[in-house]
Amino acid sequence: MLTRSIVLIGLMGSGKTTVGKRLAKQLGCTFVDTDDVVLKATGLSVRDIFERFGETVFRDHETRALQSILLDDTPKVIAAAGGAVLAENNRRAISDSSSYVVWLDTEPSNLLKRVSFGPHRPLLDDDAPTTLEAMSTVRKGLYSELADTRVDTNSLNVHEVVNVILKNLEFEGIS
Ligand code: S3P
Repeated sequence: MLTRSIVLIGLMGSGKTTVGKRLAKQLGCTFVDTDDVVLKATGLSVRDIFERFGETVFRDHETRALQSILLDDTPKVIAAAGGAVLAENNRRAISDSSSYVVWLDTEPSNLLKRVSFGPHRPLLDDDAPTTLEAMSTVRKGLYSELADTRVDTNSLNVHEVVNVILKNLEFEGIS
């Protein structure tokens, strides 16, 4: 049985949602994605919020979503959207929770091959390669500081990433 929540962090396209869903299934627990919680709370897609109200308003919704998820201490798998680590209070909320933080670390060139461009990724509309590089530069240090463990996903498929995490959880006595 899972004793602590797992928070998956990493850039867009690093596999947080796909890996998180499979991981939760294997662990028999709930999966929650901050973007989905924002959508449920506002009735708007991430793109709609960006277009109608701007990034700052989106980030406020993201903070509220993350904090409400972390408030419920039932162990679960949480995908924290790529930019959730930007706000200091979000990083503090994650580290103050008893969650086990897993950084899915993927090179921007590989992210570009995997990422889907859709309604929840307006930031990739213009020049996705440059945006992902810039995000990686800014966020790498934040992910690294927050993570209890880093999984280099560059040469692993989803199944392999899930297995690496499951082994870590067993080793740490979390599952
Ligand atoms: C963002 C990541 C997206 C979404 C929004 C902004 C970011 O979530 O919240 O487009 O700034 O990295 P995913 O990481 O789930 O794609």
